[in-house]
Amino acid sequence: MVLDVSPLWPAQLDHIALEAPDPEGLAAFYARALGMGVTPLGGGRWLAAGKQRCVIFCHGPSRGHPFSAFAVANGAQLDAYRRFLISRGGALLPSPTPLFAEGAFAVRDPDGRLAVFGLRCGEVKAGVGGAAVLPGRLQHVVVASSRFPAMMAFYRDVLGFLVSDTVHVTDADGGLGDVNVCFLRSSEEHHSFAVFRAPKSSSDHFALEVESWDDIRRWADHFAALDVAIWWGPGRHGAGNNLFFMVKDPDGNNIEISAELERLPKGEPGKRWPAGGKALNLWGSVWVRDVPG
Ligand SMILES: [Fe+2]
Repeated sequence: MVLDVSPLWPAQLDHIALEAPDPEGLAAFYARALGMGVTPLGGGRWLAAGKQRCVIFCHGPSRGHPFSAFAVANGAQLDAYRRFLISRGGALLPSPTPLFAEGAFAVRDPDGRLAVFGLRCGEVKAGVGGAAVLPGRLQHVVVASSRFPAMMAFYRDVLGFLVSDTVHVTDADGGLGDVNVCFLRSSEEHHSFAVFRAPKSSSDHFALEVESWDDIRRWADHFAALDVAIWWGPGRHGAGNNLFFMVKDPDGNNIEISAELERLPKGEPGKRWPAGGKALNLWGSVWVRDVPG
């Protein structure tokens, strides 16, 4: 079984890059909203960094997501993973990120986005005050894809992520049909990457993992003070079993605050869910009552 010997395990989502028409302005929002320190990287790129969370902003269309960067544990693992990727047919490309040390590399997925692998180098300037004190480790990133079968196969069979839960359309007999969401992990955390079937490929969201329900409350109160409204949640996802809510940044990127994400050891099978309903939210649909008029 190829996946059980993938040297990707363990790897953590370390940082992502987002494109924006005004990357400096969007980075300033992240400084306020997520308590991140902002550093110019040159070339029109800006780094927003905080407590266990880093996002690089570069010039491009709103909601562009050019790469996700995963950190492995040490140089020996990176060497083994490089050999594994080559053996799986991966075409290695130069790393696009200044946050990884020399030796990092990238692979282009079927949607054209880079998955980058390497070792973190140097310190980043984190934010101070405000949300900077709130926990929130960048933990997973999720994309929508019009090439869903190819994306799922690429992350599983070429990159060596392990499949956790899958969500299925209902077939003609009322049973579980084709997969339309696939959660993939690179450590015991239920997913560090996920992809869902969509008419158009795009980014979907990234998540900050916090330590407790109390942190969810603290983040919601913080966003309320900034007039950043929750647009989904709070609830508990069926797939991953994590508590969550989501807000949007000014460009429409979805930011999830998450807690209690399920752990799934290597070799453990994930669950299979029918689409919608409990896979999305075990607590049911979120409903907002009308204001009496
Ligand atoms: Fe998520």
